[in-house]
Amino acid sequence: MVLTDDPQWFKHAIFYEVLIRGFHDSDDNGTGDLRGLLDKLDYLQWLGIDCLWLLPFFASPLRDGGYDIADFSAVLPEYGTVDDLAALVEAAHARGMRVIADLVMNHTSDQHEWFQESRQPGSAKRDWYVWSDDNERYSDARIIFIDTETSNWTWDPVAAQYYWHRFFSHQPDLNYDNPEVQEAMLDVVRFWLDLGLDGYRMDALPYLFEREGTNCENLPETHEYIRRVRKVVDDEFPNRVLLAEANQWPDDVVDYFGAGDECHMAFHFPVMPRMFMAVRREEAMPIVEILEATPQIPDNCQWGIFLRNHDELTLEMVTDEERDYMYTEYAADPRMVSNVGIRRRLAPLLDNNRSIIELFHALLFSLPGSPVMYYGDEIGMGDNIYLGDRDGVRTPMQWSIDRNAGFSRAEFAELYLPPIMDQVYSYQALNVEAQQRSPNSTLHWVRELIHMRKRHPVFGMGAFEALRPANNRVLAFLRESEDDTVLVVANMAGSAQYVELDLSRFAGRYPIEMLGNTYFPRIGDLPYLLTMGPHGFYWFQISALIDATQTSER
Ligand code: GLC
Repeated sequence: MVLTDDPQWFKHAIFYEVLIRGFHDSDDNGTGDLRGLLDKLDYLQWLGIDCLWLLPFFASPLRDGGYDIADFSAVLPEYGTVDDLAALVEAAHARGMRVIADLVMNHTSDQHEWFQESRQPGSAKRDWYVWSDDNERYSDARIIFIDTETSNWTWDPVAAQYYWHRFFSHQPDLNYDNPEVQEAMLDVVRFWLDLGLDGYRMDALPYLFEREGTNCENLPETHEYIRRVRKVVDDEFPNRVLLAEANQWPDDVVDYFGAGDECHMAFHFPVMPRMFMAVRREEAMPIVEILEATPQIPDNCQWGIFLRNHDELTLEMVTDEERDYMYTEYAADPRMVSNVGIRRRLAPLLDNNRSIIELFHALLFSLPGSPVMYYGDEIGMGDNIYLGDRDGVRTPMQWSIDRNAGFSRAEFAELYLPPIMDQVYSYQALNVEAQQRSPNSTLHWVRELIHMRKRHPVFGMGAFEALRPANNRVLAFLRESEDDTVLVVANMAGSAQYVELDLSRFAGRYPIEMLGNTYFPRIGDLPYLLTMGPHGFYWFQISALIDATQTSER
């Protein structure tokens, strides 16, 4: 298989976020690595993944999962070498899969040689970071990691000044007002794309520049620089994608698409917590409202939709009232709270309720955007809230009942983190091998849905229209393109419901339930009645206009 020459490939791709450290260990040292991931590409291809997103693999002291980069052009030795990365990309491409990776532009590790140089008095690199005698500057900027940081400034005794950091104090922000920094980071962009990577997830994008009197987020200067990055990509690297991590309100997130000249994709941060809200409140409104408040995006752009990722379930972009509600409903134990969010995996958040897990995947694969899955969620992996920071959702992938979940043959004590071994989610009971053998497993179910989605590009490319049925427990929407129409109906309640939908503009056509290929009664001018089981959902393809006599016997 070869990669298609398709600049819009990301619009109909299924993405899979993978923690190299936790996926598969090929050299028995207790840490996952690039060769280990390469060994598992067949599995990912079988699942139906089109694009891998690799969490940071760069040289790093790993104080922030590798988002603290000490050398932008070196691979962390425990993960392998630059050649191993090239081999991984080549093997993925040979399977028709693409690979993107995190690009951390905003900051470096304090171990990076740029910072070590910068802090020396009289250094030519002094201006590569943001230094000040005054730790009151930019006081309108919020603190993001409120669990550990009390200020965005930290005193450096060597430099005898404060340096600016939006995240951990060991992650100094680069100074984008310095043209040398701008150029150096463009070289980083080029370095990995030259090696064959298909693009980047642009980490922490809103914070590149600082300006007094602002909250130092989403500044015009930041957007201007992103346009420069995009131009380099467009001019030099065809068919690549830039995916923005901008945890902002809908109106601000859309700015990261620019006029189709900034990022190709951006995560839809606001919709994610509202899915969790909707199912607990048993009403569709939180999802409908946020999608209707989401501005249109340029034609050459796409949302990234996700349920969970390697961070806490962030609650920064919800109202105070909604945040309180989420904590009450989803974080019963204070250990589950991390910064402004909840550090748990999908299955435990949903009480391991299979119907809700199915419902959530049905939404992930049908709402407007390209789905971005998180490793392990396809088998309903659990978490460990007793581990520090966000490690509880970054435990080893559970491959089999073998030692260390089949993840590694190292001594248990050598593992970077222990696999899940609790009563419910333990790898002995919950693993890929067992689920592959069990036709009714979550894994098979998710895979079937993925493959159904892939047969209908309308899910990626089609227009979105919410229907507003009188029964507000039911979410109903259309996805439409010129040659395909899909109707999605989802019961957010844990009780049986009925719903009447105005489908009169499809009068004479048939809803075909897609998973069973079942023709439902013909659509007429009257409201279309559907009954739904608890947390049930339907994906219907609306048939073309066909002669009723042909289908009456079906
Ligand atoms: C992003 C990453 C997160 C990291 C932070 C700082 O938000 O998703 O894991 O801690 O950036 O680099």
